Amino acid sequence: MRLRRLRYNSILRDMVQEHRLSPRDFVLPLFVTEGGGQKIPITSMPGVFQMSRDELVKEVKTLSPLKIPGVILFGIPRSKDEKGTQALKKDGVIQEAIRAIKDTTPDVLVITDVCLCEYMSHGHCGVVQKTPKGQWEVMNDATLEILAQMAVSHAEAGADVVAPSDMMDGRVGRLRQALDHHGFSKTPILSYAVKYASSFYGPFREAAASAPQFGDRKSYQMNSANKREAIREACLDLQEEADMLMVKPALPCLDVIQIVRQECDVPVAAYQVSGEYSMIKAAAHQGFLDENQVMMETLLSIKRAGASFILTYFAKQAAQLIMRCE
Ligand code: PBG
Repeated sequence: MRLRRLRYNSILRDMVQEHRLSPRDFVLPLFVTEGGGQKIPITSMPGVFQMSRDELVKEVKTLSPLKIPGVILFGIPRSKDEKGTQALKKDGVIQEAIRAIKDTTPDVLVITDVCLCEYMSHGHCGVVQKTPKGQWEVMNDATLEILAQMAVSHAEAGADVVAPSDMMDGRVGRLRQALDHHGFSKTPILSYAVKYASSFYGPFREAAASAPQFGDRKSYQMNSANKREAIREACLDLQEEADMLMVKPALPCLDVIQIVRQECDVPVAAYQVSGEYSMIKAAAHQGFLDENQVMMETLLSIKRAGASFILTYFAKQAAQLIMRCE
């Protein structure tokens, strides 16, 4: 009976609430394509689109009134090859998108995903080579060189933060070195430090057209059975001077968010990934769940676990709901 005393009155309940969501907690992921006038729905992610630059700019303009501080950009080039050539072009899809956003809405923080899977014809996050035995392998150090150039070209185009998500060893250190060398010592690195090989990324691979054409990502992304290894990943990235760490996916990894937060004294981001979003959308569409309530409950649980901010496709929907309730 004693604990319920604080639950009867809704004003009191609200007053003693321990955690709260704000639109300032969110970063919106966006997919940008080449061309113009394009806003292509992603079937497995209702409400999410691949957008050409003009549409992207319109979308980003809607964020400041909602008090959403930033976006994370994923580029979808028209052509792909085995070297990720399009990732490095000065006028590449992502570089042009960064410039367009910075020209029109400089007050929105632009984070860029630094990874090669969207640019490689085989869909892997790095350079692939065949071993003498005829098996393929993702080459660590050869990939680092391309990622470093990619990060620099994002910074040159005006990116505020770069976020390597490839999971090669040593990428944070290599990116830091390249950024510093090119005069971007002030550009922070948000490392996808703890990124599990998760099936929750399924819908993203439709969105970014980046599904691996053979094999899987288990030789570079983490085994989701491992938690102590998450600390090793996080600590190593901090040694290499990561400014912020990310845990991904979010809801299946609340324990990991919590422990990374405890062990590391930098901001910890969590990525509520495509599958987490689609799962809620699909269940709500069937009438099995209340979409807004489940959305808020998941986001709040991610914050309660210790996330400093959340990358989520629900950013706008959640921000609108929060603003309506306040
Ligand atoms: C790029 C990348 C992926 C995601 C973010 N960056 C895909 C992957 O690793 O396969 C997934 C995000 C999501 O599912 O929403 N490597």
